[in-house]
Amino acid sequence: MEIRKLTIDNYEKMTKLWSKARLPFRPSGRDSREAVAAEMKANPGFFLGAFEDDQLVGLVVVSCDLRKGWLNRLAVDPGYRHRGVAKNLIVEAEKTLRKRDIKIFCALIEEYNDTSKEFFKRCGYVEHRDIIYFSKRESDEV
Ligand SMILES: CC(C)(COP(=O)(O)OP(=O)(O)OC[C@H]1O[C@@H](n2cnc3c(N)ncnc32)[C@H](O)[C@@H]1OP(=O)(O)O)[C@@H](O)C(=O)NCCC(=O)NCCS
Repeated sequence: MEIRKLTIDNYEKMTKLWSKARLPFRPSGRDSREAVAAEMKANPGFFLGAFEDDQLVGLVVVSCDLRKGWLNRLAVDPGYRHRGVAKNLIVEAEKTLRKRDIKIFCALIEEYNDTSKEFFKRCGYVEHRDIIYFSKRESDEV
């Protein structure tokens, strides 16, 4: 397996993989081709893909401000799970963030997603039951 930076040429394969992994994403909002292209331009190393025989089998989207780093849209092809693909992606994503002097790595996980919760625990992440996520959105698509 090889972890590589993704470019906008990988966009269709990325959305296909998110769909295959049944990961909710926003094709008309922040995951649109235009939005992803802009994000990639601003932070070229923040979209990481795991490749097996040149096939995209996993991906993660990194984001950060000057305080914290976030791991978003992590997904692995169902046919390639339990082989450490996600683990390798997270290790690389954390490396990318450390280069920006980020020392806090975070992920938002839906309550029902026991697999993802177990995965992040296994990667050393601590669950915060005392925090509730609030957001304010300009529309449902964003
Ligand atoms: C969560 C997900 C990314 C894990 O991908 P993966 O490549 O299979 O994970 P890894 O092989 O790197 O697993 C590393 C460790 O996580 C834990 N883990 C992974 N899948 C697990 C599961 N189904 N149940 C319990 N623990 C699990 C295990 O401890 C595993 O270590 P082990 O194989 O030595 O037991 C994958 O299941 C997925 O794409 N799910 C759908 C999309 C999703 O929910 N993404 C997360 C959004 S927050």
